[in-house]
Amino acid sequence: MSALRSLNPYFWKHKKLLAWGVLFIVLGNFFNIFKIPFIGKTVDEIEHALTLSEAQLADLTSIIITNVLIIIGSSVLSGFFSFMMRQTIIVASRKIEFELKNTIFRKYEALSLTQIKNSSIGDLLNRLSEDVVAIRMYLGPGVMYVANLAVLLLITSIYMLKSDMEMTLWTLIPLPFLSFIIYRVSSIINKKSKILQETQSDISTFVTDAFSGIRVIKFFSKEQYFFGKYAEKVGVNQDKAMDLAKTEAYFFTIIQMVIGLLNVAILIIGGNKYFANQISVGEIANFFMYINILIWPFSMVGWITSVNQRAAASMTRVNEFLNAPIEIPNFNKEDYTIEGNIEFKNVSYTYPNTGITALENVSFRIRAGEKVAITGKTGSGKSTLALLITRQIQPDSGEILIDGIPIEQHNVEVLRREIGYIPQESYLFSDTIANNIAFPLEEGEYDLELIKKYAIKADIDKDIQGFTKAYQTMVGERGVMLSGGQKQRLCIARAMIKQPKILLFDDALSALDTETEEKVLRNIQEDSTGITLILITHRQSTISQADTIIYLD
Ligand SMILES: Nc1ncnc2c1ncn2[C@@H]1O[C@H](COP(=O)(O)OP(=O)(O)OP(=O)(O)O)[C@@H](O)[C@H]1O
Ligand SMILES: [Mg+2]
Repeated sequence: MSALRSLNPYFWKHKKLLAWGVLFIVLGNFFNIFKIPFIGKTVDEIEHALTLSEAQLADLTSIIITNVLIIIGSSVLSGFFSFMMRQTIIVASRKIEFELKNTIFRKYEALSLTQIKNSSIGDLLNRLSEDVVAIRMYLGPGVMYVANLAVLLLITSIYMLKSDMEMTLWTLIPLPFLSFIIYRVSSIINKKSKILQETQSDISTFVTDAFSGIRVIKFFSKEQYFFGKYAEKVGVNQDKAMDLAKTEAYFFTIIQMVIGLLNVAILIIGGNKYFANQISVGEIANFFMYINILIWPFSMVGWITSVNQRAAASMTRVNEFLNAPIEIPNFNKEDYTIEGNIEFKNVSYTYPNTGITALENVSFRIRAGEKVAITGKTGSGKSTLALLITRQIQPDSGEILIDGIPIEQHNVEVLRREIGYIPQESYLFSDTIANNIAFPLEEGEYDLELIKKYAIKADIDKDIQGFTKAYQTMVGERGVMLSGGQKQRLCIARAMIKQPKILLFDDALSALDTETEEKVLRNIQEDSTGITLILITHRQSTISQADTIIYLD
């Protein structure tokens, strides 16, 4: 479980809260046990009541009332401190979970595109949310129940030993076996719920796919086929759920059975001792209560052990993710502008996950202010070239120079600001049109007028005015359906609003008619003279107007 050690700094950060938690555990358990002897004493007093005189009875009443008040007061205090124990330890675990999630998300954003597409990291990403939950179980309940049991066991043992040694042994010895059995049952439950979860996520993937592809399903009349597959998957899920429920049923059955057996043991041993005049009825009653208090934490420790094993496995995965090297480090923090000269010298790139060599020994030069067309067969590596220019991936060999300086020495943030990139597949966020266009800018750097200005340049303003809510219209998953050409033009407006020195279209004018395309390109060049335009395209008319043509074979 050494992987869990990497959580120690987080524990250390919240040491105050956790220290309070431990204090509350001690106090909570102390008051929980403290009341028990008073219950036994009260029972013993009542037992003798029949033989007492009037005056003695009055005394007895006051003794019983005092005992009852102590019992109530001690229960209230115990409850209060248990509440405080959760308020500190569970709160600390939630805080650590929050910090861990933030660290993971930051790391995710720092990874390169190839790392994110890389299947093993992709798998990790899918599991991270599940893993964080498993780790939180260790941080919160795990820590709490173990500390709780340790304290409780110590205090109860002292009380029990003071009362009767033999009965203490008889009742304590079976409890570790209970922990072990619960641990085994919990491990099986864990395995089965993992299988259940897998069938669950299988269904989710399937349903998401069916939703996104509903048009295709309908067009090819595949509804019945998809329904059949869905029913099959749900059936598997149900079988696994039933299987899990059966095992879960053992959990409480075992605990109840052990409680029953221990109570019988106390009754037999205690009864014999009572008749031998070695113990009072009240003390037997106390033992019933000690056992019932101890059963739960002993069971929880069995459960927690299996939870901790799972947490350790999760932590190993999270560490693997957090320790993945940063492929595209940014050493340069200077702020400057670039002119827009680009040079490739014998650049090669092979996708690590598939081993496909997308580019081999590519060399060319683009001067600032040029209009360049990049063309070639599909799959010839045009989009890969765009990823290299924007430094989203790193060449395996060769050199890329921007303004004569190797791309690695540039400030990545400056590059991303100065290069407007419109990807081949337009992606819009589930947000308003205005926010999607203004996406690259910071709050306060823009107003509706600026957004409108660039929407006009991208020739999309007229379309936007046609929507009932105009610029406040929601787009993306939860919004209006936009045509392919509308999406592309929104993406163009979004890239232009940064006023970059280089604009790189990855086939991002393909859904526009020739006339609109020319209009948009004219607008761009009017807006910023000297802008370098790189157009990845299959269109003859665009290619023929370029200053330079790069043809990839
Ligand atoms: N993320 C990726 N992982 C693995 N291989 C990839 C990846 N992206 C592209 N490839 C492969 O690299 C090669 C070049 O792909 P690229 O997308 O650069 O072609 P393209 O010229 O842009 O094609 P198109 O005109 O169809 O857009 C292809 O063989 C493709 O299968
Ligand atoms: Mg492409």
